[in-house]
Amino acid sequence: MFKNIKRIIVGFFVLALSLGTLGSTNHVQAEGETYEIGVAIYQYNDNFMTLFRNELEVYFKELSEADGNTYNLEFQDGKNDQATQTEQLNNFIAQGKDLLIANLVDPTGADQIILSAQSADIPVVLINREPDVATLELWPGKTTYVGVDARQSGVYQGEIIAELDNSGDINGDGVVNYLMIMGDAGNVDAEQRTQFSIETLNETIETESLGEHQRGNWDQAKGQEIAANALSQYGEDLEVIFSNNDGMALGAVQAINGAGRVVNEDIYIVGVDALPEVVELLEQDQFTGTVLNDHFNQSHTAAEVAIMLLTGEEVAPYFWHDYIKVMAPEDAELTRLDYRMETIEEYQTRLQEAYGE
Ligand code: BGC
Repeated sequence: MFKNIKRIIVGFFVLALSLGTLGSTNHVQAEGETYEIGVAIYQYNDNFMTLFRNELEVYFKELSEADGNTYNLEFQDGKNDQATQTEQLNNFIAQGKDLLIANLVDPTGADQIILSAQSADIPVVLINREPDVATLELWPGKTTYVGVDARQSGVYQGEIIAELDNSGDINGDGVVNYLMIMGDAGNVDAEQRTQFSIETLNETIETESLGEHQRGNWDQAKGQEIAANALSQYGEDLEVIFSNNDGMALGAVQAINGAGRVVNEDIYIVGVDALPEVVELLEQDQFTGTVLNDHFNQSHTAAEVAIMLLTGEEVAPYFWHDYIKVMAPEDAELTRLDYRMETIEEYQTRLQEAYGE
């Protein structure tokens, strides 16, 4: 009975609204909101972050068409300089942006930025470069990291080589002699890919680094230079090149070709990202393997989490996606997948259990 009365009343209001007879006759349907979002990218000149940035922009447009809101994105290029980027972020805060998405040059220096954002009540979504736990604890519910666990990418790189018939030991002497080309110092992805790729391969076969691990800072030209020097110094002894990313690996492939060596015959190369150029090389058997650093899902989740924050929700400190091992082009296909949320306690327990960290 009550329900019926309620239905009749609700029905009346709906009818009255649709006829425009109640209240104002102007707008029956609420107009969409407009949100101002500041996006700080560590550096535009980066193949992977270009894919990520473009997809973020495309997806916000799609979301806007679907929900009727306007998301105005202002992108800034941090030019790989934290001082420049801090200024850009402070400007965003001074302009009163509704939300920040930050791919920090140096995530270890994030605390001051989070605190400034907090005092202006502007939530922050961190992407790509994993911050310290303590950073995410500063303003819980309003600061979050959307990313992938770099350890997993290192493990997959090690497995790609370990699973080859000769486990990377081309000359059959029982030891894999490798070159490691690294991203920038202090970067979680660089450190963990380096550590976990070699630890994983060591479970199958002994390894030895030819020379010191070298930093190509994610850059193709530097990757080429490092690989060319190693190829001329170590010649046939060099059996595997591990690169912390595909950008530097593309440079290494140029060096390999220049030295007259043949990938997958007398040398192996493994990267991370699954850049389209690398997937093409895989198709032509000119690359050994890579690991999809899923910019598609990371950017979509970052946008969705941003919208939760814009509508006042509190969110989890971590939103994770998975890396995917890529041995063939079809492994790198992009489809929308679910994210996993994690609290700080869950994150710490997982690391403790899996790696004793
Ligand atoms: C990617 C690299 C990229 C770096 C930028 C890494 O996750 O694999 O390609 O240069 O992020 O921070």
